[in-house]
Amino acid sequence: MEYRHTPVMLREVIEYLDPGPNENFIDCTLGGGGYTFEILKKIKPNGKILAIDLDKLAHEHGKIKYNKNKNLILVNDNFKNLSKIIKDIWPKKEIPGFSGIVFDLGLSQAQLEDRKRGFSFKLDAPLDMAFGQQVLDNRPPFVKATEGKYQTTEYLVNKFKRDKLEKILRQYGEERYARNIVDKIIRERKIKTIKTTGELVEIISKAVPPQYKNKKIHFATRTFQALRIATNNELYNLEEALPQALDLLKKGGRVVVVSYHSLEDRIVKNYFKKESRDCVCPPLAPACVCGHKAGLKIITKKIITPTSREIDFNPKSRSAKMRVVEKI
Ligand SMILES: C[S@@+](CC[C@H](N)C(=O)[O-])C[C@H]1O[C@@H](n2cnc3c(N)ncnc32)[C@H](O)[C@@H]1O
Repeated sequence: MEYRHTPVMLREVIEYLDPGPNENFIDCTLGGGGYTFEILKKIKPNGKILAIDLDKLAHEHGKIKYNKNKNLILVNDNFKNLSKIIKDIWPKKEIPGFSGIVFDLGLSQAQLEDRKRGFSFKLDAPLDMAFGQQVLDNRPPFVKATEGKYQTTEYLVNKFKRDKLEKILRQYGEERYARNIVDKIIRERKIKTIKTTGELVEIISKAVPPQYKNKKIHFATRTFQALRIATNNELYNLEEALPQALDLLKKGGRVVVVSYHSLEDRIVKNYFKKESRDCVCPPLAPACVCGHKAGLKIITKKIITPTSREIDFNPKSRSAKMRVVEKI
């Protein structure tokens, strides 16, 4: 089975994680396994890497390729459940100290190119865009999933109220024609359910001015990105996972996050900044009452981005931003 993905900033990720013999790691986003498999080579004979992915295909691919490897544990789950995943694998006393945890956010090339998944506006497919087909819990910020069903982009596009859809397009896509696009969606969905990426591209095409279609970035890019982020509750998952990751690290262990969207990077940056401070009281508070203690130190004072050589070789890496912290 082929599962295509060119790992982004592989050299830098491995350099900052610096895996060594018998150390334990977590790759929260296995994808095509670029990071996991590089780490695997370095942690022998007794180190473990726990590799998680919400996507069944990524998980299956990992199983076929490397399941016999005694240093690898594969889990098909959402990384927002990190602590529970660990508890299910190791009894409390035996939870290992982890030397590094890595997140490579967003979607893989294999998902984008999958004709059945609806991630790409270039391929006509059902409007799905779910990383994993897991039943949602009913937590904010989005929907109460129908019993036994997972959330899809079709559900968002056809069931969400106008304001919510417009907010998604504006906030997650920075789409300046959000209102026009949502107006058209509302009009069309009254006539019939919008079911495919092709139908959605057609609607967006009618909602944006002609000059918007001559830009370098395809006119449907922002809408598709925004809907994917909302469908998968991506920002919420990240907010939930970061504190759990920090908890699982041993002293001196590192968290590395590679993100591709400014809102993701902001969540990472703010969380790391807050956890690197001893006091998080409001700036005008006369004395500290929070009792907060710094739990980490920031290793990458400035974000790390791919080299121009990497961007030439793999243009999809161009928006990547990497941040690294170390537990103290
Ligand atoms: C950019 S790819 C990772 C690529 C990987 N680093 C490699 O070298 O091949 C992102 C992966 O994260 C997975 N993913 C996204 N959100 C997730 C979540 N909340 N929990 C688990 N996996 C997630 C996606 O399914 C996708 O396979």
